[in-house]
Amino acid sequence: MSLDAPYWDRVSDRIARQGHYMDAFLGELKIQAYLSLLERWGWQTDGPQLKTDLFEESTGVDALLWRMPTGGLRVGMDLSPSIARRAGQQDPQGTLICLAADARALPFAEDSFRYVLSPSTLDHFDVESDLHVSLCELYRVMAPGGRLVLTLANRSNVGDPLLRLAIRLGLAPYFIGSRYTAAEVRHALRQAGFDVLDETAIVHHPRLMATLFARITRMVPWRPLGRAMQRLLQAMQRLEGTRWRYATGCFVAALAQKREGER
Ligand SMILES: C[S@@+](CC[C@H](N)C(=O)[O-])C[C@H]1O[C@@H](n2cnc3c(N)ncnc32)[C@H](O)[C@@H]1O
Repeated sequence: MSLDAPYWDRVSDRIARQGHYMDAFLGELKIQAYLSLLERWGWQTDGPQLKTDLFEESTGVDALLWRMPTGGLRVGMDLSPSIARRAGQQDPQGTLICLAADARALPFAEDSFRYVLSPSTLDHFDVESDLHVSLCELYRVMAPGGRLVLTLANRSNVGDPLLRLAIRLGLAPYFIGSRYTAAEVRHALRQAGFDVLDETAIVHHPRLMATLFARITRMVPWRPLGRAMQRLLQAMQRLEGTRWRYATGCFVAALAQKREGER
């Protein structure tokens, strides 16, 4: 399978036809996880911002950008022209610049962005070395002192073998390629020239467990059961503050910076 723009266009068309695979409550949990991470990691609106994919914004339930602090110039890109177009149509303020672009060959000049959010975009390549290529591209287009918030699928998650099986059996809603440990993410960022300022893991429920919960609550519309499951999923998010965070987080997250004075 080739994970090219037509592949992601097809995924986007299918979701537009069938509705999103993600439950609204889970979408909100994911948004909250990202918003609190960005706040903790000093995400500001005092410079141009880039988001490296627009999957969430094109589909709705976990659309993150519309909830992020607005201010300066905001650019959203995606390899898939359909996803970029659909995200642009959903933009409530009409201020986001949406374009189709490949993270491995960015159509931006050097030093263009002060803040970059790359939320599980760079773990969908056919070729593993493309992670390095795309991180070098992000480094090039970021201003010195600029901050990158990077998340990638977490290989240390205890549910990873099950997720791998689900991908093999075609049960996942789209192809998830490489998954990484925190040490691998740190190494990849340093190889591309970044300083790594902090790291953690976010979204603390196995993806398959969350999908199963969503299915059960749809099939058994008994509200106390639904509420109990939501409380459990919410409580699980507190695992980020424990030493088990890498065993339970869906995504490894890192805060990286391009050194001042570097080009
Ligand atoms: C399935 S989504 C997952 C990411 C999403 N942010 C999330 O966390 O749910 C992967 C997204 O990355 C985009 N993508 C894949 N390869 C890309 C590339 N080389 N450059 C830019 N976007 C890419 C896809 O079109 C898709 O929108």
